[in-house]
Amino acid sequence: MQKTIFITGTSSGLGRETALYFADRGWNVAATMRSPEKETELTKHPNIRVFRLDVTEVDQVASATAEAIATFGRIDVVVNNAGMGAYGALELASEEAIDWQFAVNVRGPINVIRAFLPHFRDNGGGTFVNISSFMGLTVAVPLGSLYAMSKFALEGLTEGLYYELKPQNIRIHLVEQGGTENTSFVSNVSWSEDSEVPAYNEMTAKLKHLMATAGPEHKSHPQEIIDVIYSLATGNNQRFRNPVGNMTRTLLDMRAAMPIEEYLEKVGALFS
Ligand SMILES: NC(=O)c1ccc[n+]([C@@H]2O[C@H](COP(=O)([O-])OP(=O)(O)OC[C@H]3O[C@@H](n4cnc5c(N)ncnc54)[C@H](OP(=O)(O)O)[C@@H]3O)[C@@H](O)[C@H]2O)c1
Repeated sequence: MQKTIFITGTSSGLGRETALYFADRGWNVAATMRSPEKETELTKHPNIRVFRLDVTEVDQVASATAEAIATFGRIDVVVNNAGMGAYGALELASEEAIDWQFAVNVRGPINVIRAFLPHFRDNGGGTFVNISSFMGLTVAVPLGSLYAMSKFALEGLTEGLYYELKPQNIRIHLVEQGGTENTSFVSNVSWSEDSEVPAYNEMTAKLKHLMATAGPEHKSHPQEIIDVIYSLATGNNQRFRNPVGNMTRTLLDMRAAMPIEEYLEKVGALFS
């Protein structure tokens, strides 16, 4: 039977490429995005249906879930991919930026998971894939405290849910990639800055430069990540955590090899 995957954040980047990859392999795809009226490509694919979904809006989550189930009859896999980065010094972040970071990257997956649980239980099982980040396992850059907070929270949420869902035959997994090519993530980062507080200027300039100039050797290609998502969706991969990319592995090895104080000094020195 043709399987169905539901993906959040398919207007660009990893979500979009994942939608096309699964659709090209015969899966039904419920591709969700905040502004489906702007979509011209995914709507033309015979295996893809596009639904409106801002993951922070509980009502929209309920309607997108219901519409996708009504359209396809059964959803087998849900990928919580939608995400954004609020970077910059915590001191300078607006209340809105702090809340929005949590709302999209943590509350969003919570909303989607809660909406799908009754359906998965009725089906006798299902699979969630939560797209985290290497910033959910180790803080790779200064001025990423809010983003890291959101992805560490997603890691904890997912680990906690593992126990609740396993007895119901519902699998849940994490994918932790580093910087990724061909996505809008860096250009969509919201920066907290204040010219009247120069204490963070140098570090901010270095981080912006690093993000803007990181070459492909420091990044993952989306296909590397999609291959992992596909292996989780098909059940060929049962790993709970799935770090992806050379940069991720290097940082995790470094963190494991030394005391945390030494790791923090080493990473911090790159920006001071
Ligand atoms: N690229 C990286 O360096 C990197 C590294 C590690 C982890 N990640 C994670 O990978 C995931 C995918 O990001 P990406 O790299 O593909 O970046 P991307 O191209 O910016 O894609 C992010 C997607 O999330 C959507 N989104 C943002 N806020 C949303 C909301 N409230 N409701 C629904 N959708 C929303 C965006 O839609 P709009 O077009 O409407 O804004 C966009 O489709 C994210 O969870 C990100 O945190 C990325």
